[in-house]
Amino acid sequence: MINSKFLVLFYLFNYATNLTILRKLPDDLVLASASSSYQIEGAWNEDGKGESIWDRMVHTRPGRILDRSTGDVACDSYHKIKHDVELIKSMGLEQYRFSISWPRILPYGYANHINMRGVQYYNELIDELIANGITPVVTLYHWELPQIFQELGGWTNALIAEWFEQYARVVFDHFGDRVKLWITINEPKQICSFGYAGGTFAPALEISGIADYMCARNVLLTHARIFHLYKNSYQSIQKGKIGITIECSWMEPATNSTNDYEAADRARQFDFGLYAHPIFTPAGDFPEIFKKFIAERSRAEGHQQSRLPSFSESEIRNIRGTADFFGLNYYSSRYAKDIKPHPIGKPSSLKDSRIEIYTDPNWITGADPIFRSVPWGLRNILKYIKHNYGDMDLFITEIGFPDYEKFNDTKTVKYHNDHLNVVLDAIHLDKVKVKTYTVWSLMDVFEWTRGYTLGFGLYHVDFENDNRTRTPKWSREFFHTLATTRTV
Ligand code: NOJ
Repeated sequence: MINSKFLVLFYLFNYATNLTILRKLPDDLVLASASSSYQIEGAWNEDGKGESIWDRMVHTRPGRILDRSTGDVACDSYHKIKHDVELIKSMGLEQYRFSISWPRILPYGYANHINMRGVQYYNELIDELIANGITPVVTLYHWELPQIFQELGGWTNALIAEWFEQYARVVFDHFGDRVKLWITINEPKQICSFGYAGGTFAPALEISGIADYMCARNVLLTHARIFHLYKNSYQSIQKGKIGITIECSWMEPATNSTNDYEAADRARQFDFGLYAHPIFTPAGDFPEIFKKFIAERSRAEGHQQSRLPSFSESEIRNIRGTADFFGLNYYSSRYAKDIKPHPIGKPSSLKDSRIEIYTDPNWITGADPIFRSVPWGLRNILKYIKHNYGDMDLFITEIGFPDYEKFNDTKTVKYHNDHLNVVLDAIHLDKVKVKTYTVWSLMDVFEWTRGYTLGFGLYHVDFENDNRTRTPKWSREFFHTLATTRTV
């Protein structure tokens, strides 16, 4: 175990060299860590669990995963409730965000068969957290759609809102007495763009510019339906809060030209605005520029109407305002550049947006170059959210960095050090109401298409060893010290 004093000295030095001083965290800023069911649980077919779209993809198309691995065993967290809770408790973190696997509790997707052993697993986890003074934050959907619903079109089928409602009722009925913070859906962009357009995430479809937009519409309608379900049928008794988590990268104009300024704004609308605007702005609906560019491109391709499905007035009203907080996942930032329209051809969201996105090679990089440390980008995105989506409570539901180093992850320590300082600037100088800082991730996990090649965890997990031994990294010591001293 690394000596905590050493780390205090380490980040003291960091600050001294940057001519800053130790700063106290506000009392109401909660420190948390996170995980998701498929990425850590394993036990993929144990105790009556059904098949999810990720189970299906890793088993039938292993080449889609960089190291050809699966989440079949992952961190084996299904069998390590007490141990994992102890990892969180020993650091002094106050909250733990995890997700429920839909097919673990509803193996056939529908609520006509509830798998009580799955329910029992989450009951034990929630009880263990609470018994140790850790607040559970539960995500209903972190990408584990029951495979049966994929056969029916998955997120392109509008019926998904009904299927999801059946599932959500089971979740609220069984866990809502103890869980008071809910996230309906994690990262809509990754579900729709990576799953239905980019051919990477399950179900790995490549129907860009069409299926991804159908998916976006259904994600928003489903989220709204679950929000209203909670408000109308549960909140008066359970008294919790419910929102959605959206991953936002800051998009910086590539140059000072008007075209690039407009391109950066467009990039934001195509990246996260399409999900945030309908929920968090008084106008509601998809952003105007997003609708305009897709409509223009659709016309140029000879379509009579836009490939982007529209919302009716009542749907716009129904989606608007459906969040008690803004759930932000932030990792990195990008430059955006205007480009001339591509030649007409197969439709795609990239052609619709007419932007080029890239990162700066000078930004500190993680084990994958799309993850780069850009603290000022976080400050910009926090201000942007406050100004464009409202001055509400903002929960950073994920933030993290995949270090090259397995144990001595000093770049990750620096990443969090720098980003926590920016959060303090945003709170004190910009008056953004950041209430939670949630590290991704509690431990190294199955990192989707990157398999086990990226270590975001505060604990290293030995995936070669049957025990899946967890070993603290330097970043774990950093957070322990932070939780104890409450200063950065
Ligand atoms: C966000 C996702 O929610 C999480 O599942 C993933 O592991 C991290 N990004 C890192 O890529």
